[in-house]
Amino acid sequence: MADKLPVIAVIGGTGKLGAALARGWAKAGYSVVVGSRDAGRAADTASTLAAQTDGTVTGVDNLAAAVAGEIVVVTVPFAHQRRILEEIRPAVKGKIVVDTTVPLMPPKVARVQLPPEDSAAVAGQAILGEDATVVSAFHNVAAHKLATDSAACDVLVFGDSKAARARIVRLVEALGLRGLHGGALANSTAAEALTSVLVFINRIYEADGAGLRITGELTQPKDS
Ligand SMILES: NC(=O)c1ccc[n+]([C@@H]2O[C@H](COP(=O)([O-])OP(=O)(O)OC[C@H]3O[C@@H](n4cnc5c(N)ncnc54)[C@H](OP(=O)(O)O)[C@@H]3O)[C@@H](O)[C@H]2O)c1
Repeated sequence: MADKLPVIAVIGGTGKLGAALARGWAKAGYSVVVGSRDAGRAADTASTLAAQTDGTVTGVDNLAAAVAGEIVVVTVPFAHQRRILEEIRPAVKGKIVVDTTVPLMPPKVARVQLPPEDSAAVAGQAILGEDATVVSAFHNVAAHKLATDSAACDVLVFGDSKAARARIVRLVEALGLRGLHGGALANSTAAEALTSVLVFINRIYEADGAGLRITGELTQPKDS
């Protein structure tokens, strides 16, 4: 018998990346809970996504979403990452938290600027403590490409637990993309930094959401 699909909470799921991810997972048959600072806004987004996908999408405030989700995906701007993680911390003990945060610091978003911890994901794990397992992913995917099923790119997945990474690789695959293990959470630095390079490429070559593709023939991932 197939495993039951986990309920996915998307914190900040009213936004560009969060709504695109929620839409993709709802289409793939996952039950999705959209979180927002405003429960009404979450409910509006959820009903739009449910109608678009014929899927199960509900909307509540961020903390209630984190309580409901078996896997909790955080999609808020870097400037608000700390406050949101502190808010949901009591609800994510024992859960995988997928951090999508890219430490963009406007106005110079096409220049790599990393936080003191070198990685927003590493900073996120420190905020949540050891009871939650942070995996980071989706740094290099343009939300509007994801939202229109036109993101022909790979998604690098980082985390210190291989089993947790593997679960998120499966969530990437559910979106129709290739998910690749990128190694330890500290390696997330590389993907977080690469986003500013992609923003620069978009500007200078007038690209519409440049993405990342790993070349070479890959086998099944070994223990690492
Ligand atoms: N957009 C992309 O293509 C993309 C790609 C890769 C990674 N990312 C990363 O994904 C994250 C989300 O990006 P996004 O473009 O989706 O962001 P966004 O649309 O600007 O914002 C996402 C959500 O964050 C919440 N938010 C906004 N201000 C907030 C505040 N002061 N405090 C708490 N929550 C606040 C809002 O939800 P409510 O108002 O409903 O609470 C909003 O809908 C970022 O860390 C970004 O670096 C984005």
